[in-house]
Amino acid sequence: MVTQSTTFSVEQVHAAVEAAGLAPSIHNTQPWRWRFRDETLALSADLSRAVPVVDPDHRQLLVSCGAALLNGWLALRAAGLDVEVGEFPDGPDLSTGRLATLMIIGHRPPTEDESRLAEAISRRHTDRRPFTPAALPADEMRKLRRAAEAEGCWLASLTGEDARLELSVLLARADWIERNDPDYQAELASWVRDDAEATDGIPRPAALSSAEQRPTEFTTRDFTGGTGEIGVIDESRDADGTGGELASADEAGERVRTARVEHPGVLVLGTDADGPADRLRAGRALGRVLLTATAEGLATSPLGQAVDIEATRALVRSATGGTGHTQMIMRVGYPDTSAPPHTPTRRRPVSDVLEHLSGT
Ligand SMILES: Cc1cc2nc3c(=O)[nH]c(=O)nc-3n(C[C@H](O)[C@H](O)[C@H](O)COP(=O)(O)O)c2cc1C
Repeated sequence: MVTQSTTFSVEQVHAAVEAAGLAPSIHNTQPWRWRFRDETLALSADLSRAVPVVDPDHRQLLVSCGAALLNGWLALRAAGLDVEVGEFPDGPDLSTGRLATLMIIGHRPPTEDESRLAEAISRRHTDRRPFTPAALPADEMRKLRRAAEAEGCWLASLTGEDARLELSVLLARADWIERNDPDYQAELASWVRDDAEATDGIPRPAALSSAEQRPTEFTTRDFTGGTGEIGVIDESRDADGTGGELASADEAGERVRTARVEHPGVLVLGTDADGPADRLRAGRALGRVLLTATAEGLATSPLGQAVDIEATRALVRSATGGTGHTQMIMRVGYPDTSAPPHTPTRRRPVSDVLEHLSGT
């Protein structure tokens, strides 16, 4: 394709939309649409894919779209194209406007960092399996913090015992609220897929792996409602999940000391303000942190429950001891190679999400 300012191929545009589609999204909803016209890829929200119970104000939808935007931009950059990014060119109305544009303005070789991150796009995935007990080294944490800062966001690591305890309590609290909310369970169940060919949602094996017993302080999202079955609330289950046999504090402490307990890095990603552009930026930062972790050989999974609910979301920020707005919590560590294999989560084809307008 020859244009006034630059030369690029339709394949490069398709590859960028395909890379964008590999971004993480809430419940793998992939809530985005792309249009290509006049050397510009435009990203819009697909509100038919919103999840209004867990995400009533579309905050997590915007975070998901921000991660897709980063991937699309990285793919164009890795192909040596220079790109100008525009945010909310039509204003902040998600139902009518574009969230962002990627305008191809020329050629520029990618930086080493851009190539490394673009290469990690197809290898990144959410790893809900147990991690090894190894702690996250300070040097890796610095790299992840710089990745968030490169997108204008902050990343706090919960290292103090008090803060980690506070977060694990908040996660458990949010998990309990959601576990007992039939609307939340019904919405979640509608995004769990039995069909191995399904191109969106969470495949059942990945959902079930979230419910496995794991030696950890941090409750991951249970896609089965605590039952091992999707969408069923088991009222006979004890609040602490022990089946009624309570261990003494000493016994519990001993179990934790002797088990191969994972000690993941727990990272809180946030923004100073909380408008649509901040949330989109948080998605870019989330994407950049996760890709940086992947490039470093680290495994990651979001710990979303505590930020689904506004009340616990505000408390998470105070647990980190600062101001601003929490956008995401992540668990980061080293993958356990002896864990059951990862179930890949599939994506919609490019033809489903890209409108290629004639004349371009
Ligand atoms: C905003 C947002 C919130 C998410 N929350 C959770 C969560 O609470 N628990 C979880 O296990 N995964 C969470 N995820 C990860 C998605 O489930 C995952 O990205 C999606 O299923 C696609 O799978 P993949 O990341 O392996 O490609 C979240 C992702 C995003 C972008």
